[in-house]
Amino acid sequence: VTRAEVSLAHVRHNLRELRAWLAADAADAGVAPARVWAVLKADGYGHGAAPLATALEQAGVDGLCVALLEEGIELRQAGVRCPVLVMGGYYGRHRDGLEALVAHELTPVVYEPTQIEQLAGAVRYLRGGGAAERMAVHLKIDTGMGRLGVRPSGLDAVLAALRAARELELDGLMTHLACADDASLEATERQMATFAAATLRVRAAGLSPRMRHAANSAALLRLPSSQLEMVRPGIAVFGVHPCPEATEGSSRPLKLRPVMRVLTEVVALRDVPAGERVGYGHTWRAERPSRIATIPMGYADGLSRALSNRGEVLVGGRRAPIVGAVSMDLTMIDVTDVPGVALRDEVVVLGEQRGRHGEDRITVEEIAARVGTIGWEVLCGISRRVPRFYRHP
Ligand SMILES: Cc1ncc(COP(=O)(O)O)c(C=O)c1O
Repeated sequence: VTRAEVSLAHVRHNLRELRAWLAADAADAGVAPARVWAVLKADGYGHGAAPLATALEQAGVDGLCVALLEEGIELRQAGVRCPVLVMGGYYGRHRDGLEALVAHELTPVVYEPTQIEQLAGAVRYLRGGGAAERMAVHLKIDTGMGRLGVRPSGLDAVLAALRAARELELDGLMTHLACADDASLEATERQMATFAAATLRVRAAGLSPRMRHAANSAALLRLPSSQLEMVRPGIAVFGVHPCPEATEGSSRPLKLRPVMRVLTEVVALRDVPAGERVGYGHTWRAERPSRIATIPMGYADGLSRALSNRGEVLVGGRRAPIVGAVSMDLTMIDVTDVPGVALRDEVVVLGEQRGRHGEDRITVEEIAARVGTIGWEVLCGISRRVPRFYRHP
């Protein structure tokens, strides 16, 4: 009954929009447009990594990025052939993690001398040592996120390890930006300057990575100089603008289309007299005779409990408030002001709805604001229990 509809046509549209954006910036700067490696970690931000990867690959994406080795293997097992960057850089305690990287032709991120030596050893063991067999790796530099990557003070040791590892080829140089969606781009520009200085040191060491990359969705939209040879958009591919206010004044339109809709239906209806209370803890009290509908979606499905008495859903194209506490599997909504609601009527929790009372939409941004979180968490939060259906046209 409760389900998520994922529009692959909208994913393709968003990729085209981002490419057009990058092409326009590149034309202004007189350089080649950045390649797009879309980020599909966390099961493609909750949309389903494999179907999304296949759609993006068919649409000509240059590569894909995931966080975990397991996520990379999943894409290969789904038949994905394009480059897949495993961004986390941790491949387990045992050698079989490194061997899996090699066997599945995944592109690892590296940032520590021992990890580089072990990876080179695994490649030597599995492929033999010939120069034609070198494995492409990307080096991650921590320019100010403070999370993963070699810090500039440790760079020389890592570069020495990379130069010694003849089985590996430094194909990419990357960093991650901490504040690309902040009102001020100052911290981002500082990180980019640190990255540029590190790049000079990499080149001075005789290494020549083909691609430098730093930009997530927000950076690629706001700071053209961060696009370099490659970008790593995640949220924008799923149709959510990372910071609409920051690019509002832009002369160029960016028309992203939301990819996921979450729908359910009315499974119970009751008339509640004024004064009666509803749900766990009796946190809601009817101020008037009210018509209450129950939907089979709760916090175990990703409808945050923080939406208790504050969220809204759509019925017949009109908003109905969530009343009482969201429970694990069920939620109550007040449909007193939506005439004619019947059992099995469609209820939209996320996305747009056209119905007999009009047309409206509930966006990821709206839910995030009500819950006090970010859109990324709202999307990843739609749980496995909610089946995904893929729409192609
Ligand atoms: C290393 C890295 N690059 C790129 C992205 C994509 O970011 P966004 O979804 O903001 O475009 C992420 C996601 O958080 C990330 O961790």
